[in-house]
Amino acid sequence: METRTDKITEIVLKAARKARRETSSAPQQEGRGRANWPLDCTVGPGLEGAIACETKIGFVNGTRGELTYCGYDIFDLCAYSTFEEVSYLLLYGRMPTAKQFASFKRKLVKSRSLPHTLRLLMGFPLEQMHPMACLRLGTNLMRQRLTWQDSDAARPDSVAAIAADEDSIPMETIPKGEQKAIYEFKKRKTERPAKVPEGTEDAAGLAACIRLISGLSTIAAAVARVRDHKLPIEPDPELGHAANYLYMMNGVRPTPEQERIMDIALILHADHGMNASTFASMVVASTLSDIYFSIGSGIAALSGPLHGGANEAVLVMLEKIGHPDNVDAWFDKAMRRKKKIMGMGHRVYKTYDPRARILGPLASYVARDNPDAALLLRIARKLEKRVVESLGKEKNIFPNVDYYSGIVYKAMGIHRNMFTPVFAVSRVAGWTARVHEYLKKNRIFRPRALYVGAFGKEYKPLDERGRGKTTSR
Ligand SMILES: CC(C)(COP(=O)(O)OP(=O)(O)OC[C@H]1O[C@@H](n2cnc3c(N)ncnc32)[C@H](O)[C@@H]1OP(=O)(O)O)[C@@H](O)C(=O)NCCC(=O)NCCS
Repeated sequence: METRTDKITEIVLKAARKARRETSSAPQQEGRGRANWPLDCTVGPGLEGAIACETKIGFVNGTRGELTYCGYDIFDLCAYSTFEEVSYLLLYGRMPTAKQFASFKRKLVKSRSLPHTLRLLMGFPLEQMHPMACLRLGTNLMRQRLTWQDSDAARPDSVAAIAADEDSIPMETIPKGEQKAIYEFKKRKTERPAKVPEGTEDAAGLAACIRLISGLSTIAAAVARVRDHKLPIEPDPELGHAANYLYMMNGVRPTPEQERIMDIALILHADHGMNASTFASMVVASTLSDIYFSIGSGIAALSGPLHGGANEAVLVMLEKIGHPDNVDAWFDKAMRRKKKIMGMGHRVYKTYDPRARILGPLASYVARDNPDAALLLRIARKLEKRVVESLGKEKNIFPNVDYYSGIVYKAMGIHRNMFTPVFAVSRVAGWTARVHEYLKKNRIFRPRALYVGAFGKEYKPLDERGRGKTTSR
């Protein structure tokens, strides 16, 4: 008997057949062969076309609209695999055996529970912070808690300076000219245990990668709940990664159908070439800073609306359009104002993003019994048609991964502020894998800029520079 999750697999396979039909005639793309070093290339703003390193992790074929992880086609992975298996694939470069997979899953489950980190995190005003800022803070707190690297360094161990509550020192009593303390230190009993649990000092190896892949979902779920005025809940070790993430966020165990859709969404976002957040993570790691810091940088880079923040921006845009009847007028105005359509266009894909090919039909599937999502979907479909008709041929602008993901998440009850965190919960697999791979042959990133400014300017004292406006360069 066909189950509902079988139906989802059929959606993915149908999207795959369509993609293969449509892309098979496009020419094979550059980048499959070996480049000869030193490479002679022209590098423009945004490092477009620059090659940063060799990798075996993933390949994005922008002209054919193909995406592979370690040689496996994204459509096959979505149809048959799970996020845990894909994480293993990215980290180790091969599919696990049953025994390896069971052990890997045990490690992920073990790393899910972060009571101390969450307790520290709850001390911050999470409901007032951007969720991505919370995630970034969360990874810093994981680092502090799990590596013990910073536990002794940050605070003075003496209270000689000021030994009273901050509020009890009226500022006016501090003599002028003396250093003013804006904060006072109390002697803290250091929490560092006599013997750090085995492996936890490691902040740059595979153990840290696994902890981050697992732990970020716990942090993201806790942040979602706190922002919704609810207390975080304990992970359920019986659930798979996608199901547990949904459970920790929503407080109810997802249906197999919801779990499957979330799993596919996590697989789709797990890695994507040398994108901005991956590059940010790698740049930080290349200084031999550690993986926790580098993932924090990836989170920061992902938060921008030109990158992961686009999925939230798409929903805002669709809600603003409000009705399919408004699409034409809205689009014409946007074009007159040279506005970019969120969720459209891509630096690498010059055709339909294969991830959008899967998320589009999945959005239709989840919108069947969700009128709000169904309305947004009708708007999105009409806008897509307009964009592809007018910008597709002319500028190679097509839907990207962010165009439909928000509708899928919304239909699954996820608040739009938490869309980009879902992206991070998935992309952490790619970030860690690529950092781990790069560190094996590390070379600090240090590109150069083409200086186009002046030379030999004469320095004039302030009072000789006149009163008028000066130009900045
Ligand atoms: C993803 C993105 C940053 C790639 O940018 P890029 O490779 O630097 O491309 P450019 O910004 O140089 O755009 C090239 C041309 O296409 C146009 N263009 C690019 N994306 C567009 C969009 N989403 N809507 C309308 N026009 C777009 C640009 O205006 C530019 O036109 P011009 O040559 O007439 O000036 C860009 O497409 C974008 O901002 N998209 C919207 C945000 C988004 O969805 N981001 C998620 C990416 S996964």
